[in-house]
Amino acid sequence: MITRETIDKVFETARVEEVIGDFVQLKRAGSNFKGLSPFSDERSPSFMVSPVKQIWKDFSSGKGGSVVTFLMEHEHFTYPEAIRYLANKYNIEIEETEVSQEDKIEANEKESMYLVSEFAKSYFHDTLLNTEEGKAIGLSYFKERGFTNETIAKFGLGYSPESWDAFTKEALAKGYQLEFLEKVGLTITREDGKHFDRFKGRVMFPIQSLSGRNLGFGGRILTNDKKAAKYLNSPESDIYHKSKVLYGIFHAKQAIAKQNNCYLVEGYTDVIQLHHAGVENVVASSGTALTPDQIRLINRLTKNITVLFDGDAAGLRASVRGIDLILEEGMNVKVCTFPDGDDPDSFARKNSYEDLVHYLENNAKDFIQFKASLLMDEAKNDPIKKADLIRDMVVSISKIPDRIKREIYIQETARIMDISEQVLLNTLAQLVQKDISEAGKKLKTEQKAFEVVKNDVQVAREKLDILSNLEISIINILVLYGNLETDFENIYVNFDEEGNEIEVKEKIKCKISERIFLSLQEDEISFTNPLFQEIYNDLIHNYVNNPSFEIVNYMNTLEEEHSSFISNLIMENERYTLAGWLEKKQVFVKEKDSEEVLTNLVTETLISLREYLINKLIVDLMNSFSAEEENSDLEEIKVMINDYNKLKVTLTNKIGRIRSTYL
Ligand code: CTP
Ligand code: MN
Repeated sequence: MITRETIDKVFETARVEEVIGDFVQLKRAGSNFKGLSPFSDERSPSFMVSPVKQIWKDFSSGKGGSVVTFLMEHEHFTYPEAIRYLANKYNIEIEETEVSQEDKIEANEKESMYLVSEFAKSYFHDTLLNTEEGKAIGLSYFKERGFTNETIAKFGLGYSPESWDAFTKEALAKGYQLEFLEKVGLTITREDGKHFDRFKGRVMFPIQSLSGRNLGFGGRILTNDKKAAKYLNSPESDIYHKSKVLYGIFHAKQAIAKQNNCYLVEGYTDVIQLHHAGVENVVASSGTALTPDQIRLINRLTKNITVLFDGDAAGLRASVRGIDLILEEGMNVKVCTFPDGDDPDSFARKNSYEDLVHYLENNAKDFIQFKASLLMDEAKNDPIKKADLIRDMVVSISKIPDRIKREIYIQETARIMDISEQVLLNTLAQLVQKDISEAGKKLKTEQKAFEVVKNDVQVAREKLDILSNLEISIINILVLYGNLETDFENIYVNFDEEGNEIEVKEKIKCKISERIFLSLQEDEISFTNPLFQEIYNDLIHNYVNNPSFEIVNYMNTLEEEHSSFISNLIMENERYTLAGWLEKKQVFVKEKDSEEVLTNLVTETLISLREYLINKLIVDLMNSFSAEEENSDLEEIKVMINDYNKLKVTLTNKIGRIRSTYL
């Protein structure tokens, strides 16, 4: 473990503008720096770095934080990796808490295994490119598959010669120890002590970790020998855990984060061919069903996954089953099939980049809808089969952690399968019931379990409505008055000479959009509705960057979903709280003296949102309180609830002053 002192030193020394400057071209803009967002493709800069506050903010993606969060977001480092990176950059010596002798030996062993693996990678690559055999057999095979020199270099593809021990001999001659060659599985030692190369006569696909270290290999045979496996893979070892690795993740991570989607394919060649075609956000599960660890690896980069299926129907059935695991992790799953007989590899090879992207975008279907249609085709007129399938569908839906989403899918599925929602809800209730009893909880009657499900959904919906309305109000204000400047009041708590708390008020004049942005950012509030969040980010981005920003011109540039949302807001203003609020006060904001009303409206909305969120925190805390009666953190939770309650009182007082119409 890295010591606290080292971490503190790193934070004291590292300059956010210097660190980010290594990845993004930054230009001075007043007291800040500006640059193009590294998280999206944009032409006008919306990425801001504040040297004074030592933070950064990306207006296009909404991301932001400290120097360490930047490295975690951009380089996908873990926290310790980011600290190590910074320590290295600033020549800070890393102190670690006592490491046991055994830990040290183990760390050294792993390091040796990595070295051996790295050597093998360059040996195979070199053999492919620079030996007669490699060129004649390996390279010509890759060329035949349509791989270019660049692709071959990028993925470090290689060739292992058709000889019993060519690689092992070379490695030993170079001073690598047999022990580690065996441990990574590159060398196999027979009982009589003779050594053999595991991958003799195969083309080699190096398998890399998220951060680019070589973990193992896949080797493909080139002959039509029916007895030998087509692909041979490195065995499980201390550095290679199959269930935690995804082929291609190192080369795909930036693109996955940027595109906010990950394509999942089956094989090595599918990944490489898609890359070659220009689609880089792609990884492979290497022929097996995804494991939870692999899904989490993707989940760190995006919430969206699109599974690309091979052509045949039998494979389809099997693959569809594995997808419940992805739903369980809370990810949004789409699936895409290819025309008869094609797999991603062959399809990418046959089509241009534009056609490929167009095909993927137009043929990716929501998984639940896809599964429902697939099953319906199979069951058509067979009622018994249909009953099984309903159950099958509901199992998938029950894996989705988000209640609201579940509810929507129930409606969708009912429509596609042509049955009533009630039937699905009942089945879902039974499943929930089963889960509950399996968890060893008290057995409840089926009826009760059903009520629980229903009520939960209702409660969630009501909550959503208050929150959605507040979120809509904020967007509404931005749309209508984002550019207006009004007076706001900042209130600080300070101490007088006798040490008593006093409120210090400060009047400031600023744009309403600025006020809203700063206020939400301060509390790190993000919207629950993704569409609202997107529109909000976009509006703020525009107001900040363009002083003459006009909503009317802006609407022309928007895609359908956004522009219709905003025009609805403007047209049907009275449907939302804003109009009602103004009506009650009987003012028209365009009049001069109504500036104060507007100020109050903004302040009230922001405070209401905060109060709502604090309330939610308190309720959550109380729930955890009653759920874990023997919780040792009881005291801590009590203190927290108390603090939040105090905060609530302060806010309520403020609202009292301006009168809330929301809560
Ligand atoms: N696989 C494996 N062992 C096998 C067969 C397959 O590990 N005996 C894995 C490999 O990762 C392979 C993936 O499953 O890439 C998909 O298998 P397959 O479709 O047979 O291979 P392709 O990638 O299509 O390979 P190729 O096009 O070279 O035949
Ligand atoms: Mn193939």
